Amino acid sequence: MSRIFSGIQPSGELHIGNYLGAVRNWVRLQDQHECIYSIVDYHAITGTYEPEDLRRRTREMAISLLAAGLDPEKCTLFVQSMVPEHTELAWIFNTVTPLGELERQTQFKDKASRQESVMAGLLNYPVLQAADILLYRASLVPVGEDQVQHLELSREIARRWNARFGEDFFPEPQPLLTPTRRIMGLDGQAKMSKSMGNTIGILETDEAIWAKLRPAVTDPARVRRTDPGTPEVCNIYHLHRAFSDPATVEHVATQCRTAGWGCIECKQVLLESMTRELGPIRERAAELRARPELVSEVLYAGAERCRAIARETMREVKERMGLAELSEVTR
Ligand code: TYM
Repeated sequence: MSRIFSGIQPSGELHIGNYLGAVRNWVRLQDQHECIYSIVDYHAITGTYEPEDLRRRTREMAISLLAAGLDPEKCTLFVQSMVPEHTELAWIFNTVTPLGELERQTQFKDKASRQESVMAGLLNYPVLQAADILLYRASLVPVGEDQVQHLELSREIARRWNARFGEDFFPEPQPLLTPTRRIMGLDGQAKMSKSMGNTIGILETDEAIWAKLRPAVTDPARVRRTDPGTPEVCNIYHLHRAFSDPATVEHVATQCRTAGWGCIECKQVLLESMTRELGPIRERAAELRARPELVSEVLYAGAERCRAIARETMREVKERMGLAELSEVTR
């Protein structure tokens, strides 16, 4: 059984972009594979942030993930900074990662272009990501499309380390994508992401979601109610494909093409489909929020399990690289 690893930044509650792009798949996969999922707070500190806020967002993310269906009986969920071997392996990988590859990463170029002074951590971000995955020698990584380039680099790092220190020690991790690998924001302009302020949170109320859906961009060619539309170019139609059952999706497409419905009616039906899926998640989140000790226990047990695997990987890595081990020094 191949091991699965994936991570998510502690941006607070999940939004439907990272939910549909990754987390819904994480939930499905936990029945078929050994899965390890991490809330990656060391990645989050490469941007500006407030310490108290980070801790709160980390807990909120844990609540969202458990509410969305991650089951601690079936998978391992932990917070990255509770397993120090992540940064230890990242340092090692820095020594086999070409600088040019890091400078070529589109996410780095995007973020760096928006910052006045660029910190080394932002450049080295994908090295830590490679360490996250390879620390557990995971071979499959369920992610959205925006992480594919980072995974290519993870494979390159695995290859280079293997070539130098141990043939086939690290697997070359492959992405696992879904049909909802790239969810656009409600503005229809860019990928849905917290930093763009174009998200719908999975725990938001129906009223809050409706306030965002109502003005959301649709097929720009549908200016008047009577104009027929092209569902394939409409973001709302893509969300129907993610949330509505196949018969509804077909009905929606016909109503759009024939101008049977206006965009508002189409959005109302979408809201119903979303509520069907997200309603139970919101209820579970409320239950979990009332039991903070339960969330802490899950994260603590997850970190313990991960540390055992991580320690073993690091022991072998250090041995192959000629690095000192504590047991050697104290012998
Ligand atoms: P992050 O926190 O930005 O996103 C978490 C996951 O959600 C996916 N995603 C999306 N998918 C489709 N449409 C969208 N609009 C959308 N927004 C987000 C992302 O592709 C991702 O799968 N660097 C990673 C976190 C990370 C990681 C790892 C992932 C750290 N270490 C190791 C995999 C393996 C990130 O920032 O994801």
